[in-house]
This record gives sequence, structure tokens and C-alpha cells, in this order.
Amino acid sequence: MILVTGGAGFIGGNFVLDYLANPKVAGLVNLDKLTYAGNPETLKTVEHDPRYHFIQGDIGNVSLVSDLLEKYAITAVVNFAAESHVDRSILGPSEFIQTNIVGTFHLLEAVRIYWEKLSTGSKESFRFLHVSTDEVYGTLSLSDPAFNETNPYEPNSPYSASKAASDHLVRAWHHTYGLPVVTTNCSNNYGPYHFPEKLIPLVILNAINGKSLPIYGDGQQIRDWLYVKDHCSAIRRVLELGQLGQTYNIGGWNEKTNLEVVRTICQILDTIKPKQNGSYADQITYVKDRPGHDRRYAIDASKIERELGWKPKETFDTGIRKTVEWYLANTDWTQSVLSGNYQNWIDLQYSSNAK
Ligand code: NAD
Ligand code: TYD
Repeated sequence: MILVTGGAGFIGGNFVLDYLANPKVAGLVNLDKLTYAGNPETLKTVEHDPRYHFIQGDIGNVSLVSDLLEKYAITAVVNFAAESHVDRSILGPSEFIQTNIVGTFHLLEAVRIYWEKLSTGSKESFRFLHVSTDEVYGTLSLSDPAFNETNPYEPNSPYSASKAASDHLVRAWHHTYGLPVVTTNCSNNYGPYHFPEKLIPLVILNAINGKSLPIYGDGQQIRDWLYVKDHCSAIRRVLELGQLGQTYNIGGWNEKTNLEVVRTICQILDTIKPKQNGSYADQITYVKDRPGHDRRYAIDASKIERELGWKPKETFDTGIRKTVEWYLANTDWTQSVLSGNYQNWIDLQYSSNAK
């Protein structure tokens, strides 16, 4: 039985669904605070699966986490729980420090105390997998090589700085206390159940709702996109075969400028849901740039391929088409997340930043 934190969010939700799709697994406990980003609708299909246990709570609650570890005899923890949106971290960093740094510290402590009491065999097989981001490495110029696991940490946003801090804590709990940890640093994900504050789902939903498609600055910033199901399969592989104390970069070998991504989404929509007049690309609007906007991220994912035999299955072309089709087919899910709270965020973020 494994403990997943943040399993009602975008990547955690996909992970829970894929993990339980394997009939051989014993089950999992999903501990999620259900912030604005956590959505139980994502997990509707597993709600009644006897192998699935949902607990609403905070990773920073040591007594709750300790009870869950004992009660379910947990053999591994996969830590997705975090505040994850760069723009929100710029407008209000406090929650990022609280959950990503202080929360991870409390989680590590609860796990360490539990792990130290396990029998020798259980201690050896136990894993703490910390899910992190490529943004901890900072930004690249066009001519720089992609990030590998030896790049120094140079985080630039409150979000990436808080994730970098949590990665350092995880590393220290291994070196100091021997906690059996592995850390993954992944590039930008996209796919089903992605909250529409992030670029790809925001653009798909704004496009079909006749709204503007906001491009920050000149739209030439580069991200390295990975289909979320590929990220989930990489995490399962690292859980199974990852070497203790190691970090693994995960990426899709899909570097694209933001403008390319938005234009691709518009082209797909022009084909499968054409407008009466013109193209969805006519809705593109340039808005004020994000402060401290990282120019380029790129992941060198050769270590995980070489050492653990993992490679992504989707190309950007296949993954983005699946994603657009998913949003068109799952309007119930999107309606459930487009609540009053969501609208408040959109007003706050986009009302004052027209160029
Ligand atoms: P998300 O914002 O969609 O989901 C985060 C989940 O964590 C939500 O369900 C939320 O309710 C929960 N949560 C937040 N604070 C909590 C707390 N204190 N206690 C318990 N639960 C809490 O995020 P995501 O995009 O699914 O990202 C998951 C992880 O992957 C994060 O650690 C993020 O840094 C990392 N990551 C994300 C990406 C990406 O492109 N989205 C890329 C690389 C790494
Ligand atoms: P985002 O999805 O927020 O991910 P991250 O900041 O973690 O990379 O943004 C992806 C890129 O898209 C990033 O360069 C910022 C840009 N962006 C826009 O141009 N317009 C938008 O409305 C949003 C949300 C993002």
C-alpha cells in the first residue's frame, strides 16, 4: 500500500488513475488538502474501488500523516502535493513557502520516524519519491545544452525556489538520516485533468469559449512538454528501479515556443471544431510579460533512459491532439472546475496585464 500526496491535482490524479488501472497493485492512500487545485471529480471512477482510500488533509499535519503511515502499513510515499503555479507564486508566495518547504519538512519528519521503526527488510524496500520540477535549474539561453542532473540549482521564481528548497530537504534527509529517497525533476506536463490556469488548458478553453488567448511578452519562451501519462509511467519506473539518493530528469524531448504551442492548438481546433468565420488564431492577444519570466527550459532525459530504460511514448503532436480532444469530450469536468474561485483568479491575473 502506497501513500500518494496531492493525488487530487493534475499529475497526482493521473497517477492515481493509472496506478489503480493495474489490477495487481494492493492499493493506495491519497492524502490531499483539496486546495483550489485539487478536484475529486478527477477521481470519480475510482471512488468506490476498495483499494482506494481518500483522506482530506495537509502534508504538514505530522500526527495525521503518522497515523496514516501506521494504519495502512505504507511501503512507499509519492509526494506530489505542492502549490504549483508560477503566476500565483508571484502574486502570493506565502502558501508556496508553507506547503512546498514547511509542509515537505513535516512530511519528511513523519516518514522518517515511521521508517526508523520498521523491520530491516521493510526499511530496505521502503521508498520516498519526491516529485519535483526542471524549474529548479533556472533558465537557459538558446545555445545552452539541456539541463542534466548535475546542473546547479538556480531557481528564479518563488515557486521554483520553494521546490528547490524542498529538494534540498529531501536530499539532506537521505544523507543525514539514511531515508531511502529518490527525486524526479520533470519538465512541463500537459494532458487530461489539467487545471485551466496553466497555458495549454487555458488556451483550449478560452479558444472554444470565444475568449482571447493571452501570450506573455513575445511568446518566444521555450518549454519542454511531456504528456502527463508519460510522466506517470516514469514515476512508476523510478519507484520500482530508481537508485537511492539519486535524482532523475524526466522530459519529452519536445522543446516548443509558447507561440508554437498556441498556434498548434488553434490548428487542431480549426480542423476538428471549425469556427464559422476565421481561425482560432485570430483570438491570440499579446499581454504584459511575467516578471522574471524564465526564457527556456529543456531536459536532457538520457540518464533515466540509459539507467532505467524509460522513454516517453507520446510525441508532442500525438499528445496535444489527445489533449484537445479530451477537453472537447469532457465538458462536465471543465464545468466543475470553472467555479467562482477560478473566475476570481482570472480577473486578478489578466485584468491588469493587457499590453
Ligand atoms: P496541482 O497544483 O495540479 O496539484 C497539487 C495538488 O496538491 C492539489 O490536489 C492540491 O489540493 C494538493 N495540495 C496542495 N497543498 C497541499 C498540502 N499542504 N497538503 C496536501 N495536499 C496539498 O499540481 P501538479 O501540476 O499536479 O503538480 C504535482 C507536482 O508535480 C508538484 O509537486 C509540482 O511541483 C510537480 N511538477 C509539476 C509539473 C507541471 O507541469 N504541472 C512539472 C514538473 C513537476
Ligand atoms: P505555465 O503553464 O504557467 O507553466 P510554467 O510557468 O510552469 O512553465 O506557462 C507555460 C508558459 O506559457 C510560460 O512561459 C508562461 C506562458 N503563459 C502565457 O504566455 N500565457 C498564459 O496565459 C499563461 C498561463 C502562461
